[in-house]
This record gives sequence, C-alpha cells and structure tokens, in this order.
Amino acid sequence: GASARRLTQWRAAAAGQTSTDTQHQYRKATAPIAGQKTGTSGLRKTVQEVQRTPNFVENWIQALFNVLSESRDAASAAACVLCLGGDGRYFNREACDVIIRMAAANGVNKIIVGRDGIMSTPAMSALIRARKAAGGIILTASHNPGGPEHGDWGIKYNIQSGGPATEALTDKIFAETLSITEFYLNDRMEPTDLSCVGTKHCDDGFCVEVVDPVHEYAKLLETVFDMNRLAAFVQRPDFSFVYDGMNAVSGEYAYRVFVGRLGAPADSLRNCKCLEDFGGIHPDPNLTYAADLARILGALPSGSEDRCSEKRPDFGAASDGDGDRNMILGANLFVSPSDSVAVIAEYAEAVIPYFQVNSITGVARSMPTSRALDQVAARRGWSCYETPTGWKYFGNLMDAGRIAICGEESFGTGSTHVREKDGLWAVLAWLSILEYRSRSAPSGSAPVSMSQIMQEHWHKYGRHYYGRHDYEKVQSDAADQLMAWLRSFVGSEVSAASQEGACNFTVDEFSYVDPVDGSSASQQGVRLLFTDGARVVFRLSGTGSSGATVRVYLERYEPPRAPNESASAADSRLARDVTVALDPLVQFVAQWTSIHARLCRTSPDVIT
Ligand code: G6P
Ligand code: ZN
Repeated sequence: GASARRLTQWRAAAAGQTSTDTQHQYRKATAPIAGQKTGTSGLRKTVQEVQRTPNFVENWIQALFNVLSESRDAASAAACVLCLGGDGRYFNREACDVIIRMAAANGVNKIIVGRDGIMSTPAMSALIRARKAAGGIILTASHNPGGPEHGDWGIKYNIQSGGPATEALTDKIFAETLSITEFYLNDRMEPTDLSCVGTKHCDDGFCVEVVDPVHEYAKLLETVFDMNRLAAFVQRPDFSFVYDGMNAVSGEYAYRVFVGRLGAPADSLRNCKCLEDFGGIHPDPNLTYAADLARILGALPSGSEDRCSEKRPDFGAASDGDGDRNMILGANLFVSPSDSVAVIAEYAEAVIPYFQVNSITGVARSMPTSRALDQVAARRGWSCYETPTGWKYFGNLMDAGRIAICGEESFGTGSTHVREKDGLWAVLAWLSILEYRSRSAPSGSAPVSMSQIMQEHWHKYGRHYYGRHDYEKVQSDAADQLMAWLRSFVGSEVSAASQEGACNFTVDEFSYVDPVDGSSASQQGVRLLFTDGARVVFRLSGTGSSGATVRVYLERYEPPRAPNESASAADSRLARDVTVALDPLVQFVAQWTSIHARLCRTSPDVIT
C-alpha cells in the first residue's frame, strides 16, 4: 500500500540504496486498533488493555514511522537518529525491545536509548537537542500509577526541537492507526543489552547506543544554574530539605544532582528508587498523592495537621513518574503551582545565570492556571501568553523567542533550556531563590523561609487564591452533559442568588489561535468570569485512561497590601487558608451547577 511505498523510499534513502527487498522479510500483517488517539500528552491505556491487545505497540510505532518517513526528505533521512527511553514503569522493557526491532526494520539509522530504558521527560528533551536527533520516543504514562495489575502504560513522541509532538502530527499518527495493515519488525536480531552503556552494532546501517540517562541533562543544568553556589547552600548545617522521587524516574536524577553534585545529605531523598510499579505509589506530586511528604513539611491544609508541633524541613519537593512535574513546599507551606511560576519569574533574572544571558521578554501560562504570573509580567513589561492546557502549546512561543518561562496549574514549570516542563529545574530554581535571599541576610542568621518569600510576593502583587477540584473517572455521558449544559450559557450574563447576595458573571469558552503558526484550538474550557475578578473554569481532562475526569478550577483575587495598610491587616487578607478563602466560591459553584448530583458524587476526588 501507500505506506509500504513510502517506507521503501525512506529506507532506500537512509541506506543509500535504490531497492529495499530486505525490508519485506520483516513485514508483518496487522489490522487497525480502535482508540489509539493521543490525549493531552501521549497515548495512555491500562497495562491490561495494552497487554491483551495484540500489536498495540507495533501499530502505533509503525503509524509514527509512516508519518515520519512521509515528512522526511531523502537528504535528512540519511541521518535518522531517534532517542528512546522512559520512566521505568512496568512494560517499558518489552516495549523498548519491540521499538528497537521495528526501528531496525524501518530504516532508522540509530537509536540512542537510556540505560535500562530510563530517561525522564525533561532529560529526553535535553538529549534530543544535544544529540540533534530527529526526535524521541518516551515510554511513560506520566503521573498515572504503574504496574501489571492496576497500572497504566503510555507512549509519546517528541520532535526535533525536544518538545511534545504538535497536534497536527499526533492527528496524522492517529489517522495512520486507523488504516494500518502492516508493520516492519526485525525478529532475527539479538535482544539489545540495555543494562550497560555503550554502542551496540546490530546490523549494517543500524546501531543502538545505550547512554547514561543523566549525563546530557546534568551537563545542561551546569549551564543553567550556579551549581557551586547551590552546593554551598544545600550543605549549610542550618538548612534542610526533603525531595520525594515517588519511586519513579526522578530518583536516578536526584541522587546524581542533589547528592552527587550538590553534596546534600543522602537522607534528603526519599522514595528515590526507580521501581516498575513505583512501589504502589501514585506518582503524582500533589497534596493527595504526596501526602506523606506534605505531612513531613506540615503543609497539609489546616485541620488535617498540627502545624507547629515540630521543627519542619525548610524546603520540600516532589516529582511525578517521568520527572516533568514538581510540587514545592516550605515548612508549613504549600506553594500552588500557579504561584510557583510567578515567583520563579519574579526572581529568575536575579538568581539564575541562564536568564542573565537569555533575558526574559515574555512568559506564558495555560488558561486554567491562575493569573499570578500576569501580575509579574505586567510590572516587568513582559508579554504574557495564555495557552490551552498542554505543554505542547508553549513550544512555538519558545522556538520563536517570545517566552522564556512558562507554567501550568498541573504542577508543570519550565523554561527554554529544554522544551518540556522540568521538575528538577523547578526545584533548583527555588533553591536558587532561597540561596539568593539568604545570601544577603545578616551573617549568622538562618536561611530566609519559604513563607517569608511567599508573604512578600503576595504583599507586592496580591494573591490569587486558587484550587482545583477533580472528579475522576466519572461517567463520560454525565461529564459531557455537564459541559453541554455549561456551554449553553456561553455568551450570556448570569445573575444568580448566592448565600452572600447576588453573584454576577459572564460565561465564555476559551479558544486559542497560535500567534506563531496560526493554528487554532477550540472548546478549551468554559469560564465563569465574575464581576469581582473571581474566575471558575470547567474542562474535561485529556490525560485519563478510562472514563472522564472533570476539572473545576477556582480562583479569587485579593489585592496587594495598600500603602497605608499594616502588615498584619494585609496578612489577614493575604495569608488566609486557601480552603477557607475559596469556600464561598466553592459553595456557590456546587449549588449553581448541581455538579454533585450531575456527576453522582458527593465531593471531589482530588483537591489541589
Ligand atoms: C500533562 C500535560 C500538561 C497538562 C496536564 C493536565 O501533564 O503535559 O501540559 O497540563 O497533563 O492535563 P489534563 O488534560 O489532564 O488537565
Ligand atoms: Zn509527567
């Protein structure tokens, strides 16, 4: 068929040959598999579905290769290098083996794979860029649990820039999966030993290079941060921090960077073994799934923890399965991801050497992320872009030099040093802020606290009280009906009764036109925009593996400290408990939407 013809051309070009009879010996028949559509971030399914569906990996990978070969010209095909690796979850080893055999049979020249198939998402982005590869295949279901019984498995493709595949590309891959009839797999090859670093030649014109998964990434960090200053800081006897790797891929990186490079005590790290099932942990760094860490810091919402009973670590952080997300904590403090990106942006040029060279002219956040970042941008005169949910939407803005830092409410923060969000980068950025602020403190005094940094920020810019309520794995019909009902208000002004009098808001639906390439995305979330500046957003998650997840994002703005306002009066407005501050909005939304009755739930499953 057409795909076989394209492959033939690609393989021929790659091998400098004119005919590719050899390829046909590797041809296997297959049939389309329904549901191989990529979500917000790659294709994700339960492990059980992947394992009981014959050719699940083969079909998707062949679809990818077909699309890649179609878009390559003979000249660039001559050096087709692809990177491969993942978060170490169950089924990755089998998938690596299949992908390497398929790459060999499809005319790929070289696969650069992480040792043991390990490669965090940000490290993959760094590797693709450093090695000038055509792209990279990442085996991960991100923050979803892993393991044979209840785990998910996933796969995604990153492009030459190091960023996630664009929607145009993933749409093409999906289209291929619907018409696929054959794939190519070399079943005569010896399995590649991934346990040690080195180049393994398998066949003429094809080789596998097993690389240290940390090397390129660690090299990059040296150019971004002042690692020597950070080392001196984390070694201070009066500073302590805890980093939780959630038994996922970041453990590998955390040991090397925090302990190996910065000299932090080894007991700063917890759950830093890479386990195939993450030791049963749901590797999503938030107050629900990383509650143990939050408890150590005393950072759980009030009521669930005694706040002052013991000496807390000064700083805490965690990352997700594939190392691109981060959660930031201080003693008795949770930093909302929306605030985190704003504070990092506020300090970046002063504390991170990378931004002294690459000065900031713009920043970006996903639409549901709070508008804390906008406040910093406005004061600095930076552009501030609002994009749909999904890191891929930042790619064009970064490549075009329009933004330097970006973040999402979903615990993603990053910059142009790679094209993915980067959990460890966020942790090092915060350590840089703490180091900088503590540097100027009188000698002999303790490091400046995270709480103080946040308090100053809120006094200066005001505070966006923020929360996200998730209703997970609800009936798809119920979720769709809720969204359809909300959509019926789009364009109208609503005045509804609430416990605190009338609530007035307008309703719209977010859509986006990419200012760089003009591509567009619609139906990206229904927004209630209240007259007092509060905002509530509803959207369906694009990252689940079954059922639907409804996300409700709630935001309320409290203005900065006024010139004649006392610090304690300002704190009584700005340093309130988030749950308490958002409660009237939460109550109103529950009542107006009847969300609990509609979704057959009594409360959200996860609040972040
Ligand atoms: C992944 C993506 C993010 C996105 C998040 C939540 O982590 O990389 O860009 O914000 O998922 O997406 P969702 O569609 O589930 O809200
Ligand atoms: Zn992730």
